[in-house]
Order: sequence, then C-alpha cells, then structure tokens
Amino acid sequence: MRTQVGIVGGGPEGLLLARLLGRAGIECIALERRTPEYLRARIRAGLLEQGTVDILTQAGVGDRLARERLIHDGLEIAFDGKRHRIDLKALSGKVVTIYGQAEVQKDLMDAHDAMGTEIVYEADDVSLHGLTSDTPRLRYSKGGQTHEITCDFIAGCDGFHGVSRQAIPQDVVRIYERVYPFGWLGMLSDTTPVNHELIYTNHERGFALCTMRSLTRSRYYLQVSADEDVDDWSDDRFWTELRRRIPADAAAVLQTGPSLEKSVAPLRSFVAEPLRYGRLFLAGDSAHIVPPTGAKGLNLAVTDVRFLTEALVAFYKSGQSDLLDGYSDRCLARVWKAQRFSWWMTNLTHRFPEALPFERRAQGAELAYLVGSKAAQTALAENYVGLPLG
Ligand code: FAD
Ligand code: PHB
Repeated sequence: MRTQVGIVGGGPEGLLLARLLGRAGIECIALERRTPEYLRARIRAGLLEQGTVDILTQAGVGDRLARERLIHDGLEIAFDGKRHRIDLKALSGKVVTIYGQAEVQKDLMDAHDAMGTEIVYEADDVSLHGLTSDTPRLRYSKGGQTHEITCDFIAGCDGFHGVSRQAIPQDVVRIYERVYPFGWLGMLSDTTPVNHELIYTNHERGFALCTMRSLTRSRYYLQVSADEDVDDWSDDRFWTELRRRIPADAAAVLQTGPSLEKSVAPLRSFVAEPLRYGRLFLAGDSAHIVPPTGAKGLNLAVTDVRFLTEALVAFYKSGQSDLLDGYSDRCLARVWKAQRFSWWMTNLTHRFPEALPFERRAQGAELAYLVGSKAAQTALAENYVGLPLG
C-alpha cells in the first residue's frame, strides 16, 4: 500500500490531522489499535481553548460543538474554606469551552465515516521503518495478516504509551520529566454540577476539582496517591471525601448519584525533544504530557496538529520544507510555556506529601497573592484561556 502521510493513532489528534489533511487533498491512512466503541467511550479532557474550538470548526466538526458546548467566563480557586472567582473574560478578553473529549472523538469519527477516510481500527503490532529514508514505512497486523504502507511522512499521534517515540534512537532524543507523587481519581455522574463554573480547591486532605460535561453531567476529581486502587473507592466514599474537601457552601448543595465511570490517572510533566526524526513527526501526548491541572493536554495536541498540517500543506503545494524543518521548534516554544503553567498550577493547588513546612507556607502565600493581585490573576487567565499561537 502507498499513501502520502501515515498516521499512527486514531485519538482526537490523529483523527483531526487526518481530517485537515483530507480536506487539503493530501492522502493519509490512520492506524489505531483500539476498537471504535472503545474510543467513543473513552473519557478524558473536558475544557477547550478558543483556538481548539476554531480549528475543530475549520475542520468541519464544529456544528454539534457550537450547539452543545458550555461557555465559561471564569473559574474559582478555593482555599482555607473560601472561594475566589477569577474573571477570565474580563482579565484576558477570552472564554473557555466545556465539551468532552469523547464528544470531539465522536464528531471526528462520524466526519471520517462520511468522508470515507481510511482508518484501520484494531491494527496490532504497529512498527515504523526507514524513518531517515524518503520512503518511511508502517507495518501492522490485522486479522492474522501483516500489512505494509509506504509513506512520504509518518505522524506519531499515538499518545504517551505509543510506539512512535520509541522508534527514535535513544541517543537523538532528549527527555525532560517530572513525575508527581499523586494521581487524580476522576468520577463522572449524571448529577447537576455543584457550581456553574469550575472550582479548583486546595485542601489539607488534598486537591479537588469540580468540573462538568453538561448542565446535567458532573465530573469531579480528587487528588489521591499515585498507586491508588480505584476499586477501593465506592461511590459513597468518593462523595464523602469530595464533600470534606470543597468549601462548605458548595458541599451543602452538592448533588450525589451513581457514578458512570471512575478511574485514576497519574500526574506527569514530560517532554521529548526534538519532535522530529527524519520523516517522522511526533505530535501531542506522544511527545509531551502535562499534568491535567491547567487543562492543556488536548489543547497542546491540537496546536501541534495545526502546525504539522500547515507544514505538510506547504510541502505538497510548493515543495517548501522550511515549515517542516521548523515544526519542532515552533511546537516546543508553546509546549514549554504550557508545561510551565501546568506545573505551576499543580504546585499551587495540590498538597505535596513531602513538602517542608516552609514550602507549605509559601504555597499559602502564593494563593493569597493570587487572589489579591489583578496582575497575578491576569497571568493565570491569559495562560488558562490559551496563549496566542505565536
Ligand atoms: P491519545 O488521546 O492518547 O490518543 C492516542 C491514540 O493512539 C489512542 O487512541 C491510542 O489507542 C492509540 N495508540 C496508542 N498506541 C498505539 C499503537 N501502538 N498503535 C496504534 N495506535 C496506538 N487536556 C485538555 O486539553 N483539557 C482537559 O480538560 C484535560 N483533562 C484531562 C483529564 C484527565 C483525567 C486526563 C488523563 C487527561 C486530560 N487532558 C486534558 C489531556 C488529554 O486527554 C490528552 O492530552 C489528549 O488525549 C492527547 O491526545 P492524543 O491524540 O495525543 O493522545
Ligand atoms: C475536565 O473537565 O475533565 C477538566 C477540566 C479542567 C481541568 C482538568 C480536567 O483542569
């Protein structure tokens, strides 16, 4: 088989790239190891920057998003039992959108079904070959048969645990990493959200986040230990713990109900540089991970895809390779700013088991400074809503 761009991974990012390339008349094939049913049900991100909404709209998958999204003008930070609102819109001129990653995934899959894109689900044993040649190849097996695709370029959109990054020789990739000593236990339930905006709470028992997917579906997260077993958390235990951590006036109106899903995610900051090796380009979680506190992961992944699309379109239209050559640096400039913000926001809102009394007091002072300073709130707001593309 032959294609122009071989894409590894059919998550939101692989499918968005396939969509943008397809609309620009560039052929591609995407290989995804999971089933469509699994992908449609996978619950992850919930908060989209305006730049992400814009590119999804440009990709022709913005209709349901425009109808169903919730727009948030602000968020709350809570500590010492008190709530403080940060007016994102007044401070930055921008708003954020609540729309689940599972919905973005479904919209992209439906658009590809209609457009007839070649997406191979349940592709096993995907491997990458000849990356420094002009004809890199993807090999995979399906239904007991091995297949090979010869490409001009390969896009590694296969997430943190994928094979693309691993295909780069270790001596040409530089890894930067910080693993946090805790994880997030997430729960989804068909209950009215406790507040109309998100509440990030710093509490002595650990961080808690109140977010949502719609006006009738809540999503809550609790800081737990990194090796926490989700089976140890009955719904009752979750609700009781959440009620203890969030401010009393929010706890008083918290609606509880059966969980639709519960899972634990570890927290990690990670960057693999550069994002290019020969004709392989990494994008999204395959090259970088942020802790979810700043809601940046999917948004960063989408920006990588935007830059990669621009570079590939320029190459196929005019033979220019300068955007391909600049791809990694262009992404990394933005990635590192989002890394810094996500790390800062995690440090601000979580309880670190190993923190010295000095560090804990400094964290308290940082929170007090934030809620008392318009300048500090503006810095949070402009990062949270998404920095300019640059
Ligand atoms: P993935 O979504 O991981 O997709 C990779 C795809 O590749 C998967 O479908 C996988 O099955 C496939 N794959 C893997 N290995 C192979 C292989 N060997 N062969 C073929 N296919 C393979 N981000 C935000 O922007 N906002 C938020 O509010 C937010 N909240 C989050 C909350 C939580 C609890 C978590 C865990 C994450 C959150 N994120 C958030 C991060 C966001 O979910 C990820 O950054 C995003 O999913 C990255 O997209 P991706 O396509 O790069 O990777
Ligand atoms: C979510 O809605 O899942 C979400 C929102 C904001 C975050 C992280 C997760 O910071």
